[in-house]
Amino acid sequence: MVLKPIYEGEFTTSRLKPISHIDRTQVSDHLPKSRVPRGARVICWHEDPWLGSMSRIVAIADLDEERLLELPSPCRGCVYWEAPDAFEKGPNEAVKRDWIRKTREQFGNCGKILYLDGQAAGYALYGPSNRFPAIPTYRSIPVGELRDGAVFLACLVILDSNSRGKGLGKRLLQEVISDLRRRGFAAVETLARAEDANNPSGPRRFYEANGFRTKSVQNPEFPLMRLDLPPLPE
Ligand SMILES: CC(C)(COP(=O)(O)OP(=O)(O)OC[C@H]1O[C@@H](n2cnc3c(N)ncnc32)[C@H](O)[C@@H]1OP(=O)(O)O)[C@@H](O)C(=O)NCCC(=O)NCCS
Repeated sequence: MVLKPIYEGEFTTSRLKPISHIDRTQVSDHLPKSRVPRGARVICWHEDPWLGSMSRIVAIADLDEERLLELPSPCRGCVYWEAPDAFEKGPNEAVKRDWIRKTREQFGNCGKILYLDGQAAGYALYGPSNRFPAIPTYRSIPVGELRDGAVFLACLVILDSNSRGKGLGKRLLQEVISDLRRRGFAAVETLARAEDANNPSGPRRFYEANGFRTKSVQNPEFPLMRLDLPPLPE
């Protein structure tokens, strides 16, 4: 099979384009290594109108203790959800790495990193709700539990504000949803923010635009959003 160079295609908008016409498993071999980190999967390219005909490569990888270090500060040491007591004392990479290691042992993959041209540009963190001791501080119940098949999405962020609003957040969320569906979970829940766009997981309208419904408004500022995950066809 002859692979087309990644930059071929019709570039008419500044939105993301899928690479469905290319064998995704092989496409990484045709790109400079600096633009696709080891083990990451290319999911699409993104035309940047300011770069003219040059494209930007979007890739995704599972989050583990090593990849965590590719995130910029303070994200890579932020333990806001995972360890509120430690969070009070500032960023703590050791605590976060330990949390990721233990969560991966108990639950499996618990996050994704999105790369733009080889640089970490976004990040999502998820897992069983009992692994996030900050949840009760939101006074929003009932947050779904793993025994009922619900996974909690604690954080989803596109790091550079200039890269927001171009479809990257949607891509990242879709990868989280695909991961959880593939693993047979029944739902994903998150505490979104009613109005403000700046929140650990993002604004309510972002989740509504991605199929989530409001499960509870017990805390009106932070509605609990839920997406039921239909099982994959046999
Ligand atoms: C929320 C966030 C992840 C969304 O990612 P994004 O790349 O900007 O969003 P997308 O371009 O993929 O938008 C997807 C959809 O959500 C909607 N949307 C995204 N951000 C929105 C916002 N702030 N308000 C309303 N709708 C929004 C878009 O209109 C789009 O809808 P469409 O599919 O119907 O066109 C991103 O804006 C972000 O990281 N915000 C900051 C969050 C933050 O401060 N986190 C703190 C971490 S500690």
